[in-house]
Amino acid sequence: MSNRTFTMIKPDATEKGHTGAILAKINEAGFRIAAMKMIHLSKEKAGEFYAIHKERPFYGELVDFMSRGPITAAILEKDNAVEDFRKFIGATNPAQAEEGTIRKMFAASIGENAIHGSDSDANAIIEGDFFFSKLEQY
Ligand code: CMP
Repeated sequence: MSNRTFTMIKPDATEKGHTGAILAKINEAGFRIAAMKMIHLSKEKAGEFYAIHKERPFYGELVDFMSRGPITAAILEKDNAVEDFRKFIGATNPAQAEEGTIRKMFAASIGENAIHGSDSDANAIIEGDFFFSKLEQY
């Protein structure tokens, strides 16, 4: 099992000034930052990242949203990172997210849900490598 996951603090959370608060909570929850950058994705790059959702009805909306402004992308390290991070951020739909989770605290809707967390070890590696070269992963 890999001990790394990948996250993005999404444009809605960036716009509202929540980046610092979310990063502090990530550290308090025991995740070590192994790579991090702030970046404004083009529509093309956002579309490429979410290509797996291409056939979904929300794909266009998702690409527009994710290219609307800067995000903070990061690789995080912790035992059981993928599962623990998904618990820590809460359900995709913030209306269903548990009290104390990042999405409960900072997300407005299923589309604009503040933060991303990889859903498997394999995707954590693919997604981390999308943003960071091996030299940028510490
Ligand atoms: P995330 O899990 O980070 O990656 C896929 C994203 O698609 C998800 O977060 C949501 O932001 C978005 N998404 C999933 N379901 C819907 C939906 N029904 N409507 C709009 N966006 C969605």
